Amino acid sequence: MTATVSTSITGSTRYPIPELGPPGVHGICFSCDSIKGMDTAEETAIRLGSTATWYGVGILATDQELAEYWAEFCRRHGLHALFHPLDLDVCGTDPLDDRLLRSIGKRADELGSPWLNIDLAMWVREGETLLESLVPMALVDEAVDRAVDRIKHAQDVIGRPLTVENAPYPFVVGDRDILTLMTRIAERADCLMTIDVGHLYGLRTQCGLPPVLPSDDDIAWDRVVEAHMSGTFLRRFEGGVRVVDDKHDWPVGEEVWELADALLPRAPRLRSVMAEAEGMSADELTSSVRRFAARADHWWSAS
Ligand SMILES: [Fe+2]
Repeated sequence: MTATVSTSITGSTRYPIPELGPPGVHGICFSCDSIKGMDTAEETAIRLGSTATWYGVGILATDQELAEYWAEFCRRHGLHALFHPLDLDVCGTDPLDDRLLRSIGKRADELGSPWLNIDLAMWVREGETLLESLVPMALVDEAVDRAVDRIKHAQDVIGRPLTVENAPYPFVVGDRDILTLMTRIAERADCLMTIDVGHLYGLRTQCGLPPVLPSDDDIAWDRVVEAHMSGTFLRRFEGGVRVVDDKHDWPVGEEVWELADALLPRAPRLRSVMAEAEGMSADELTSSVRRFAARADHWWSAS
């Protein structure tokens, strides 16, 4: 389904949150490795039945065959696809390539993804896709202008809204709060937001902050349509330095569930909560998604 695009009275292009499938559909999403995880995804989808309603597809813009494969997978299992392009670079230094953006738009059409999810990070460096080694956006005010300009341009060429996600932070540059920066970016670029609860827990823990901050009251929660969660791994170094890594093949820790419980009910338009699970077996993934479903009821309460 193509997103509805309208023009506001100020003349800027606005991307209202599109309806997909039954109006207001919300529910649990899962994701597997798009190349190595086909059998796991198939087995898990069969076992889950209607417990999951969305599936996260992370592929490159050039992968038409994979886009068609996962579109057919979603149709077969009654799942709605959410597209996460792995080569859309909204925080990098390479100029945006309109030909690539149009390819990303075609993949989104093939998948029927209502919006495109992208971490606020450098994804490409001098033409090379960084994939697992993406460089997170610096937590400084100057990062906002650059991201806004690139997101606006990408949305205009792709023709669908982007939802920007807080990236993982294996190292931190700057001292601004990521959700505050995301809100400024989303409001100025008129895009949507994804809260990765595990990434947020990790960043705030590394910075010695509590998981929930008073500034969270001022976040543009009405722009949040997706949330992600996965396992986390805390490493402690000399001098009190802590680093929290994402572990997609680990179960979600209690501290991340608690942060999700505290934040997600604030998002009245939350549609999808994703169990990011690349590397899990079908057994592990099935029970993980069932845990999400059992815990999820009050996350939708505001909507
Ligand atoms: Fe994520």
